[in-house]
Amino acid sequence: MAFNFDQEIDRSRTTSAKWEKYAGRDVLPFWVADMEFATPAFIREAVSDRLEHPIIGYTRVPPALVENFQSWLSRHHGWTVPEEWLIWLPGVVPGINLTARAVAEPDGAILIPTPVYYPFLSVPRNAGQAGLQVPLTRDRGRWEMDFDVLQQAVDDHRPGRARLLLLSNPQNPTGRAYSQSELVTLADFCLKNDLILCSDEIHCPIVLDPDLQHTPIARLYPEIGERTVTLFSPTKAYNIPGLPCAVAVIPDAALRRRVLHARGGLLPDVGPLAYTAAAAAFADSSDYLPTLNAYLRGNRDRLAQVVGQRMSPVEATYLAWIDLTDTRAARNAGAHFEDFGLGLSNGADFAGPGFVRFNFACPRSMLERGIERLEPALAALTDA
Ligand SMILES: Cc1ncc(COP(=O)(O)O)c(C=O)c1O
Repeated sequence: MAFNFDQEIDRSRTTSAKWEKYAGRDVLPFWVADMEFATPAFIREAVSDRLEHPIIGYTRVPPALVENFQSWLSRHHGWTVPEEWLIWLPGVVPGINLTARAVAEPDGAILIPTPVYYPFLSVPRNAGQAGLQVPLTRDRGRWEMDFDVLQQAVDDHRPGRARLLLLSNPQNPTGRAYSQSELVTLADFCLKNDLILCSDEIHCPIVLDPDLQHTPIARLYPEIGERTVTLFSPTKAYNIPGLPCAVAVIPDAALRRRVLHARGGLLPDVGPLAYTAAAAAFADSSDYLPTLNAYLRGNRDRLAQVVGQRMSPVEATYLAWIDLTDTRAARNAGAHFEDFGLGLSNGADFAGPGFVRFNFACPRSMLERGIERLEPALAALTDA
């Protein structure tokens, strides 16, 4: 099967959120995390086949989806899960918020390593909990958890009240794919502090370095699995965020019941087209993902060549996190690049002020047009 990631696709008649933001302005969008690549034909064909039936009614979870997901998880991540552990949801972000509501207690608090994908930051408020934002640290450009600072945050809050930790792995926006040993340390930390863990692993198929492998933290050992809600979704890797479908894997029956209860009439079921697309994605054994990851690796390397030391090493995801904290542009980093015709995500929204996030999942030709604007924007940076 051939996949053409070089093809530029006009999205102007699709009310694309990414492109509409700058409608009428000469700004190239490299912000929100959807890709400029065609959703693979095998997914579009599956959806189109479903549309051959003229009724798009309420739909139960298709058995083929469950089987495909179970087999995907076992094939790619060596994790065998029974169907009863699964809760299907119309999105990962709803899953994170449900988990927070499920474990919320009076005076409870939620730990959030930052910078992080911005919807994490409103989870504590949504669940009536305190938010404890704990900065990641950098070791030679590589972002890591600082367990002393995390412990301090737990101890400084009312003892015993921290309930939950939100993990993004692979990490949006820093591009880290946490190693097995870092995940073991984090798992031990959660056990020691009696924390529930919500692990958002939506980016796990997009690991760019061939010698790295994604490990679901819940699979490390049974005790951490029993206190973890892991969220998966095919929408990033297969570029189907407009067909939202996610799955929470929750081994512990009591925690699962609480998450289901928190759903409380607020969320719709997943629709049949989204189920169909997800089932086709989890069944994929073509060379789509290896080809996509190789293409993204090329884009990452090209961008890194231009940005240099300011760009954190991107092990996974298609997002580059760029440091401007030593420059005058830091105060409004996004605006500096908009002035040069580049629409990037502003780091302040991710609790990372002074940074910008660059989504490089686009044809090389579009990236090169972006680079023509990026070079003068970087050259115009002045010391703070
Ligand atoms: C880390 C992370 N989690 C969740 C999402 C969105 O998930 P959903 O659209 O399924 O709520 C994104 C989208 O960019 C993301 O980067």
